[in-house]
Amino acid sequence: MVKISYLDQDGTRTDLDADEGTNLMELAVRGGVTTIEGECGGALACATCHVYIPEEWRAVTGEASEDEREMLEFGVDVDDRSRLCCQIRVTAEMDGLVVLTPVSQR
Ligand code: FES
Repeated sequence: MVKISYLDQDGTRTDLDADEGTNLMELAVRGGVTTIEGECGGALACATCHVYIPEEWRAVTGEASEDEREMLEFGVDVDDRSRLCCQIRVTAEMDGLVVLTPVSQR
């Protein structure tokens, strides 16, 4: 199991156990993280799974694809940390990752 945490801007933290291979949107929705909707089911068509990945974790989570970057243009409060978390699959190296959710998704 890999420990992943989601931290909302109001300080609400949800700690979840993840199986390798699941994506961070599915994990959040199943785990009751209400600030991540995942409206399109991970089809890269909605941007309701927008999160911030802290700088120190970006090498582990990887960079956004061209298609993901294009969809992020429809997001709100997008910055250099932004990712669509349906596109990030859990690996063992992500143990301890804290995913931040943007204010706009409160
Ligand atoms: S769930 Fe729709 S883009 Fe991630």
